[in-house]
Order: sequence, then C-alpha cells, then structure tokens
Amino acid sequence: MPILSQDTLEFISRNADQTRRLGARLGTLLVGGDVIALEGDLGSGKTVLAQGIGRGWGANTPLISPTFVLMRRHLRLQNNHRLYHIDFYRLEATTEIENLGLEELLGEPDIVCVVEWADRAPHIFPEEHLWVTLRWLDEFRRTLTFRAQGKRHNTLLEQFRKEIIGR
Ligand SMILES: Nc1ncnc2c1ncn2[C@@H]1O[C@H](COP(=O)(O)OP(=O)(O)OP(=O)(O)O)[C@@H](O)[C@H]1O
Ligand SMILES: [Mg+2]
Repeated sequence: MPILSQDTLEFISRNADQTRRLGARLGTLLVGGDVIALEGDLGSGKTVLAQGIGRGWGANTPLISPTFVLMRRHLRLQNNHRLYHIDFYRLEATTEIENLGLEELLGEPDIVCVVEWADRAPHIFPEEHLWVTLRWLDEFRRTLTFRAQGKRHNTLLEQFRKEIIGR
C-alpha cells in the first residue's frame, strides 16, 4: 500500500468484500458536507465501495446500484442527516445535471454525497471533496486511489489512512 503523497492514498483490493470493508471504514468517518466522487470503468467496484460507505455511515437502507435512477436518498437512525447516492452513468447532457439541483446537496452541512461516474461532470463538484479512482486489474483485483481536495477532506483522508495502515 504505497503512499503517493500526503493527499493521495492507494490500495490494491483483492476481492469485493475487501472493497466493501474499505468503504465501510471510510463511511464511519464521514460527516455532513462530505463529498465522495467515484471514477472508474464499468464493473470496477464503484457500487461495491458505495455500499460499504453506506453501511459504515449507518444507512437504514442498503445502497443499490442507482443506474436507472439518478439518485437515491438514504437516512440513518442517529440523526436527520441524509446520504445521497448519485449515479451519472445515464446522464445524456450536462443540462440534465444542472436540472438535478445538486448544488443544493453537494457540500450541505447535513448531507453526505457519494457520486458514481463523477468524471462525467467533474465541474459540478465543490472544491472540497474526496476523489476516488478505481481501476480494474484482473477479475478480482482493483486499484483504489483516494485523492483529497480541500482542508476537510485532507483531514478525512488522514483519519482514513490512520485507520487502515496505522500511521
Ligand atoms: N476487488 C474487488 N472490488 C470490487 N468489486 C469486485 C472486486 N473483485 C471482483 N469484484 C466484482 O466486480 C463487480 C463490481 O461491480 P460494481 O457494480 O461495484 O461496479 P461499478 O463500478 O459500480 O460498475 P457500473 O459502472 O456498472 O456502475 C462486482 O460484481 C464485484 O463482485
Ligand atoms: Mg455502479
């Protein structure tokens, strides 16, 4: 697990469960306003990672592939925070994104956003976010690269790094 630089962290996951567990550990660290942008080819594990994030965050409902719906809202028991699981895969045009009203969700204090196919509309992301790139290596192995943008997300990545590799 090489550390590329202070604001970047890279892992190789060896199976879907490992990716889900990584997501869950990240999910427990999330607070309102956090934005997780997921980029990676079909089948690279974006939904699996998002499912882990939802579980760690404490979503009442499991995250499922939102491919046919642009976004799904999840709630949790401990407070009225919401987690939006968003998927840009089916977006036809950037105007569609503008019509979603995402500016009212991204970075809002009570809201966590997890966005699949984030690279389809990179311009809509606030300066503060965690960008995750997933790469398919072979049937079971995936590279996951986490890049923090902004002060809060650098702190988040720092906590995540400590959780995972202990330093
Ligand atoms: N190390 C791994 N991490 C994640 N998924 C893995 C891994 N190894 C195998 N898989 C399998 O790869 C598939 C990943 O599917 P997933 O739906 O998460 O991909 P996705 O990136 O969301 O694709 P899409 O772009 O279609 O939404 C699953 O079938 C999962 O079981
Ligand atoms: Mg998916």
